[in-house]
Amino acid sequence: MSLRGRFAAVSSGIAFATLTGSSSAVWLSYTAGQQRHLDTALLRQAEEDALRGAYVDDPPGSGRPSLRHAELDSATTYAVVYDKNGQALGWTPNLHAAQPRWDLIRHGAALPFDLWWNNEHLRAVVAPLPGERRQLLWLATPRTDLDGDARDLARRMALAVLAAVAVTAAAAWRLAGALTRNHDRIAAVARAVAAGDLTARIRIISGDPEMARLGRDIDEMISRLAVLVETQQRFIANASHELRSPVTTMLGELSFALRREREATAYRESITEALASARRLRSLIEDLLALARIGSADFESEPVLLSEVAQGAFESSQTAAEATGVALQAACDDAIVEGHPGDLQRLVRNLVENAIRHSPRGGVVRVEAQPSTDGIRLLVSDEGPGVAPEVRERIFEPFFRSPSARADASGAGLGLAIARSIARAHGGDLWVDDAGGARGARFVVSLRSYSQPFESAAARSDA
Ligand SMILES: Nc1ncnc2c1ncn2[C@@H]1O[C@H](COP(=O)(O)OP(=O)(O)OP(=O)(O)O)[C@@H](O)[C@H]1O
Ligand SMILES: [Mg+2]
Repeated sequence: MSLRGRFAAVSSGIAFATLTGSSSAVWLSYTAGQQRHLDTALLRQAEEDALRGAYVDDPPGSGRPSLRHAELDSATTYAVVYDKNGQALGWTPNLHAAQPRWDLIRHGAALPFDLWWNNEHLRAVVAPLPGERRQLLWLATPRTDLDGDARDLARRMALAVLAAVAVTAAAAWRLAGALTRNHDRIAAVARAVAAGDLTARIRIISGDPEMARLGRDIDEMISRLAVLVETQQRFIANASHELRSPVTTMLGELSFALRREREATAYRESITEALASARRLRSLIEDLLALARIGSADFESEPVLLSEVAQGAFESSQTAAEATGVALQAACDDAIVEGHPGDLQRLVRNLVENAIRHSPRGGVVRVEAQPSTDGIRLLVSDEGPGVAPEVRERIFEPFFRSPSARADASGAGLGLAIARSIARAHGGDLWVDDAGGARGARFVVSLRSYSQPFESAAARSDA
């Protein structure tokens, strides 16, 4: 069954069940109320008639006992007086043919009951007559009006329920139609996207606002997917290109060396060149692996002293700094963050290496920790040319390099992408700010500070 059909069927079913339930409750309470009224009238009449106590009458010449019908209330159609043995003593004229047997109507006094007599549905009551003779008066009245009203009400209610269910079914059918109108469109777009067409869009303009919003959300999702796929394709293309360059150099050097017999120095030169390319290849592969690992892996957090991180980064960049006469300064006091010490060191090392590379000869590279409202900020600043505002976001893209960096082939352009991934994996971030107007670049890393008392690695090894 279609979704539309199911929706209409379920809605009508619910409407039918609730309307039938509530109508039955109304019907029951109405008929019970009507019956109560009848019972009250019947009982009152029985009491009054019993008090009069003089029903048995022998009309002269009739030879039959009879009740003076005229004395009975109009509601009372049938009456019989029984003696204590259940023998009928007198009755209304309409019972001359036959009177109900006492055992059929034996009931507690003042407890109205139903019975069928001569194909007529009656409501009856028994009341004791005053006096020593322990006679009983049986009064009954047809339920015709009551039953007729109940039947009529039931019929009207059934018609109302059927009409309401029909209206509900029609409304549900229309509503489901309106809701599912765009389903085919969405399904077609989903199939197109699954088949690789990331330009497909739903573009619901009119109709139901929820549906339009769903359409917009799906379109937005496809757009993001398209950007993601494009970024990944660009990444793969860039990575392949970067990997190919050193391999090409290596192959070139080695084939050149083997083309003919050469002097030992020529071989050495070729091997040195090939080795440099192999190192570059290895560092590129390590960076790519690091980028993949940091993006996907979980790590155990531990307290990390930032001064130790800065020291480690300075030690591995010492040679480069000395070569250009760049001074390395750290002011981290005893700031402690939560994280992975190796990854944090890699992050700071990438920033320090960049800072040294872009520093003028004799410049200063400074690593500084500052408390912030949401943790700790680690600032890495230099006195180089700084980063132009228009590329402040782009420099974090994998393989993005300044034209000068591209020209001297000094790096692959993965350092900042790795650094930002590490910062984000630590629940923080990395960005470049305007250095407070000062000359040079300033990179800011936000990190979560560690709140527990901490013993530094150096102190631990001393102990
Ligand atoms: N301190 C800085 N001052 C000015 N520009 C910078 C600085 N740090 C990075 N950049 C710019 O950002 C680009 C990307 O830096 P990133 O560290 O990602 O790559 P890289 O240093 O060129 O290569 P890799 O780090 O992979 O060896 C650099 O090419 C440079 O243009
Ligand atoms: Mg770098």
